Amino acid sequence: MYFPGLLLNNTTMWLTFLVSLSLLAKPSSAATATSADKVLSNHATIFADNSASLALSLYQNMAKEKGAENILISPVVVASSLGLVALGGKGSTASQVKTILNASKVQDEQLHSGLAELLTEVSDPKARNVTWKISSRLYGPSSVTFVDEFVKSSKKHYKCDHSKINFRDKKSAVKSINEWAAKSTGGKLPEVTKEVENTDGAMIINAMFFKPHWDEKFHPKMVDDRGFLVTSSHAVSLQMMHRTGLFDFYDDTTNKLYLLSMPLAQKKSTVVFIMPYHVEPLERLEKMLNKTQLDTWMGKMKQTAVAVSLPKVSMEVSHNLQKHLQELGLTEAVDKSKADLSNVSGKKDLYLSSVLHAAALEWDTHGNEIDTSIFGTEKLKSPKLFYADHPFIFLIKDKKTNSVLFIGRMVRPKGEKMKDEL
Ligand SMILES: *[C@@H]1O[C@H](CO)[C@@H](O)[C@H](O)[C@H]1NC(C)=O
Ligand SMILES: *[C@@H]1O[C@H](CO)[C@@H](O)[C@H](O)[C@H]1NC(C)=O
Ligand SMILES: *[C@@H]1O[C@H](CO)[C@@H](O)[C@H](O)[C@H]1NC(C)=O
Ligand SMILES: *[C@@H]1O[C@H](CO)[C@@H](O)[C@H](O)[C@H]1NC(C)=O
Repeated sequence: MYFPGLLLNNTTMWLTFLVSLSLLAKPSSAATATSADKVLSNHATIFADNSASLALSLYQNMAKEKGAENILISPVVVASSLGLVALGGKGSTASQVKTILNASKVQDEQLHSGLAELLTEVSDPKARNVTWKISSRLYGPSSVTFVDEFVKSSKKHYKCDHSKINFRDKKSAVKSINEWAAKSTGGKLPEVTKEVENTDGAMIINAMFFKPHWDEKFHPKMVDDRGFLVTSSHAVSLQMMHRTGLFDFYDDTTNKLYLLSMPLAQKKSTVVFIMPYHVEPLERLEKMLNKTQLDTWMGKMKQTAVAVSLPKVSMEVSHNLQKHLQELGLTEAVDKSKADLSNVSGKKDLYLSSVLHAAALEWDTHGNEIDTSIFGTEKLKSPKLFYADHPFIFLIKDKKTNSVLFIGRMVRPKGEKMKDEL
């Protein structure tokens, strides 16, 4: 059930709890950088910088279409799928990729090595203390023969493997795609597709599992059952995790929304939440969401004491990006009569019939130890509330490379439907 009136009391209770915990806690070990930071090459920097534009245009394109569903996309991974199309494509099938990535002047070799470098950097589990499993595969129809050179280069740059599949036997095709995705993600993505629409093209598929490892964890005991308002009259029950701390925060009173940035371990990246004050469809915020506005908001955030409550849920989302990429300008690769993917197969016999982009994101309490020294001090007095019990937008921004690792929205988390309260 949803009792807004209880909120303040609970917050006070958590604070008291945390303060008493701090008396027991060991001194925290500050995060130490493991290896000397490598600087990105110029061409990798281009893709990092442009990932925000790709993120926003893809997000906007998808938000327009999908009424009220969750969105979860990794622009840097989408960029690498596009790189794969450029690797296998010739002529304008390949050059369209560069236009979308705003990299028309970049040489082929630098395109591929730049995209590879960026993805390797941001998904490095050691340097970033992140769980991010990314698997990519190109499925071709049974009739295709993959050119050795393509198989080699796509493994090298995009860690992409290859498989032939009889799409005409739809049932077993779906089964084997889902089995591959489940296996690649350690079971986190049991079903990425329910059907295959086109039986004569090639399919690029990404299957990912991402788990943020917070710079400072949520206390595992500060988790309880709450309601999440999908709409003002429809709530689902789920677990929420709570913690108070100093975070970059901005209360945009004009637009009636909050921005909150919570760093991930090693502080190389951060999760930025954009949430309206109250439950409402996200269209209003989405209309505002462009690069200029985002930069303005980021610039206004200030370190603030905030009592944060977030859903502790996992999101599994699978998108077919084929149509959205087409609308961003990838018109040839997806068109059977125009596509030239002859560097894949040696012949002009392939087109891209789907681009499945599937990710599981697990919002959890895990992270590095909390710096408890500020608890009970003036710094945390009268915290602002960030109570994420209604739809919000989020971006996982990489600070080191300035790229966008994920963009998405949570509008309908998993959970039992609650009896309507309002
Ligand atoms: C495209 O790249 C150029 C520099 O190469 C830059 O000035 C421009 O802002 C970029 N456009 C977008 C939409 O990112
Ligand atoms: C595509 O094939 C042509 C030869 O047909 C070759 O010159 C070119 O290097 C290939 N491109 C890639 C990226 O392999
Ligand atoms: C992150 O670091 C902690 C210890 O600092 C470690 O226990 C944990 O396994 C690491 N997680 C990942 C994903 O590297
Ligand atoms: C970005 O959004 C803001 C706020 O909605 C708007 O004022 C501005 O004109 C937009 N800028 C661009 C470049 O679209």
